[in-house]
Amino acid sequence: MSSHSKPRQILVTSALPYANGSIHLGHMLEYIQTDMWVRFQKLRGNQCIYVCADDAHGSAIMLRAEKEGITSEQLIDNVKAEHTADFADFLVNFDNYHSTHSEENRELSALIYERLKDAGHISTRSVTQYFDPEKEMFLADRFIKGTCPKCASEDQYGDNCEKCGATYEPTELKDPRSAISGATPILKDSKHFFFRLQDFSDMLKEWTRSGALQDAVANKIAEWLDSGLQEWDISRDAPYFGFEIPGEPGKYFYVWLDAPVGYMASFKNLCERRPELSFDAFWNTDSEAELYHFIGKDIVNFHALFWPAMLEGANFRKPTGINVHGYLTVNGQKMSKSRGTFIKARTYLDHLSPEYLRYYYAAKLSRGVEDLDLSLDDFVQKVNSDLVGKVVNIASRCAGFIHKGNGGVMVAANPAPELTDAFVAAAPSIADAYEKRDFSRAMREIMGLADKANAYIADKAPWALNKVEGKQAEVQEICALGINLFRQLVIFLKPVLPKLAADAEAFLNVPELTWDSHTKLLADHQLNAFTPLLTRIEPAKIQAMVDASKEDLEAAATETTPAAATNGNGELAKDPIAPEIDFNTFAAVDLRVALIEKAEFVEGADKLLRLTLDIGDAKRNVFSGIKSAYPDPSKLEGKLTLYVANLAARKMKFGLSEGMVLAAGPGGDEIYLLSPDAGAKPGQRVK
Ligand code: MSP
Ligand code: ZN
Repeated sequence: MSSHSKPRQILVTSALPYANGSIHLGHMLEYIQTDMWVRFQKLRGNQCIYVCADDAHGSAIMLRAEKEGITSEQLIDNVKAEHTADFADFLVNFDNYHSTHSEENRELSALIYERLKDAGHISTRSVTQYFDPEKEMFLADRFIKGTCPKCASEDQYGDNCEKCGATYEPTELKDPRSAISGATPILKDSKHFFFRLQDFSDMLKEWTRSGALQDAVANKIAEWLDSGLQEWDISRDAPYFGFEIPGEPGKYFYVWLDAPVGYMASFKNLCERRPELSFDAFWNTDSEAELYHFIGKDIVNFHALFWPAMLEGANFRKPTGINVHGYLTVNGQKMSKSRGTFIKARTYLDHLSPEYLRYYYAAKLSRGVEDLDLSLDDFVQKVNSDLVGKVVNIASRCAGFIHKGNGGVMVAANPAPELTDAFVAAAPSIADAYEKRDFSRAMREIMGLADKANAYIADKAPWALNKVEGKQAEVQEICALGINLFRQLVIFLKPVLPKLAADAEAFLNVPELTWDSHTKLLADHQLNAFTPLLTRIEPAKIQAMVDASKEDLEAAATETTPAAATNGNGELAKDPIAPEIDFNTFAAVDLRVALIEKAEFVEGADKLLRLTLDIGDAKRNVFSGIKSAYPDPSKLEGKLTLYVANLAARKMKFGLSEGMVLAAGPGGDEIYLLSPDAGAKPGQRVK
């Protein structure tokens, strides 16, 4: 793709993050890669617009707001402020960041629905579902818990069992309970609205093979298409936080109906501020603009089936491409709260520069849908060796000689044109890699060039040459070339490292670098003072970030009282040995023998038992996250255990927890309450 052809018009989106939680490094894999692709397009001179929004609707958001004692509107405002700050600090440069809870979205969702309805693609029928008689609301599968019909494990969700992996209907669960109120749900009928996805079967068979999808994704979708499409339930009953369906009081659009419409709504909102943009030019069926959605592999059905069908049925254009990526793992495993690898965007930013992560993701991202591993050791090693050791090193090696030897002026000479030519010759291939989202290939090729530049400088050794009588002019030529090569590398890296590029532009004393400017060389050119552009990652910062991620978790713990050696989520800490403490620190813990007088379930708590302890001279109330291992709490009554008597009491939603009991084991059904030998008396101190 030549950068001299007619500028393309491109609209790009990332999936809209839910407005009920913080952004973490898994999300960032998506927003960073989309941002890099958009920046590349802009650098090439294309008109590229990047829009996103918070996904603000649904019962999860309504319930969380209720729990926090605020309105849904307040919750989504707070979260939006947090999300936009996180994205900005990761240098993700949206043209617009909106919300699905907006007027534009209400209008567009209604319009699309009306058009689908008029064209006969909406049907209705009665659906029987579990209903919470206390909360007076229908329960989504994840708000129903009960005993698995296959393996009899307790406390499983309404649609699948985490123990045996079975999937089932909520009505098959034994002893179903509402996870919201604890009440036993009843079955109730209600009218639901459906989108007739099957009407679009032929269109989808063609569109999914039109080049809009990666092969692996198209193959997966072909399986779904071959097994036959079914109508999609797009309505939910009040109470629900969302948009009421026009003309249907008490019925709301399901969050996934108006969420993708949020892409259009965000763009429409931007058009109001940017009169040169035309909504119709991007969304009408005859649009010549390109439209790309970047998403994770978990939401492919919504984007590659439902969304194009909705667009087709409502007479709008379909996406040019759906770019699907895999999931982030950290140190080879799923992000884990207890290991401190569930890292929030903000926690990362508190410790490290955003460009380190942007580069690492770029270095590992390719076109596929495979998961991507953030190995923290490899992260430090790669960033330090590539960015600091190779790229920045070129400038820091050369700038000093130019400042000291020639007043900061780069001489006009090119002692190795074969090198600058090789850099220019590599540009189309690097651009092609960016265009195809093969960021890892782009980074490999750029670092290959950086190796050449460093080899040249090492070979010429200006630091040695500068000491030789009469060689100073040659030193200036070598170093001017070094800076020119550095400048070319910065242009190629600019989509990934926008801040480094801006700092380099300041040092180089040049206007904003564009892609095409890589063919020009600076000559007779005054530089500004050189300041270090990026410093090495200190491994201690990584440890601090991991530790802080464990602390985030403790602060967020809600239901469980931590038992000894468990973190705030009731999960056992995986660290084999904790940092050393002195004897006084240990002695400060007031450990006592306690008699469990009473042990009972706690209404509405999944993991907790309420223990009434006799500690000799007093009674204590403790909530302990051990229910999964003691399904029959009465068996605990009369047992002796160990109790931390001087732990600060914790207010929980079920009452005050005064101290905690000690247990060992990995969790789940393996939690072992610690007991003293027979004969110990309640209240005796453990020494
Ligand atoms: N709200 C929906 C999307 C609606 S789009 C019309 C949603 N939100 S999300 O917050 O759960 O996820 C937002 C994006 O982040 C999704 O594309 C999702 O795949 C991606 N990721 C969330 N966790 C991720 C990882 N651990 N790794 C990589 N991407 C991840 O889904
Ligand atoms: Zn099971």
